[in-house]
Amino acid sequence: MAEQRRMRENEGLSQLLRDHLTEWSERTGITVEVWALPEQKVPPKVADNVYATVREALDNVARHSGARVVSIALTVGRTGLRLTVSDGGRGFEPGTTGRGIVAMHAYLAEIGGRLAVNPVPGAGTTVSGFVPAEMLTRYAEA
Ligand SMILES: Nc1ncnc2c1ncn2[C@@H]1O[C@H](COP(=O)(O)OP(=O)(O)OP(=O)(O)O)[C@@H](O)[C@H]1O
Ligand SMILES: [Mg+2]
Repeated sequence: MAEQRRMRENEGLSQLLRDHLTEWSERTGITVEVWALPEQKVPPKVADNVYATVREALDNVARHSGARVVSIALTVGRTGLRLTVSDGGRGFEPGTTGRGIVAMHAYLAEIGGRLAVNPVPGAGTTVSGFVPAEMLTRYAEA
């Protein structure tokens, strides 16, 4: 784990995500539209949990959505880190939850962030995450 973290710190969250997205897209045949990835360095613990959240969201897109395209935006701004994974697939009934959705909430809660899953039946699903700037600072100093 420590080894993996060091690797991530050097490589950067954005590069790790790019590599995963390329492999995932080839494997699933689903097109990934990357709207934004951050240039800034993201603290390793935050990178780990954000990366795990994106993987879980993509796993759901591949297994449940039926979508042909998924879009991803990850930005780091003055107020914090924002993450969106959005598909135009079949969506599902709000309130449905399972291990994956619980895990995504926990990944962001653990680093002082918040997650929302917004499904629209017949129209798609958007997973949004936010980690406040003060948490990024705290983990950068840790
Ligand atoms: N992007 C999506 N498109 C359509 N349905 C979804 C999507 N994401 C989640 N769902 C629905 O919500 C349910 C719960 O998702 P969750 O990730 O918690 O569990 P799971 O994917 O069924 O199993 P696990 O993640 O534990 O392997 C899914 O079974 C599916 O019905
Ligand atoms: Mg799942």
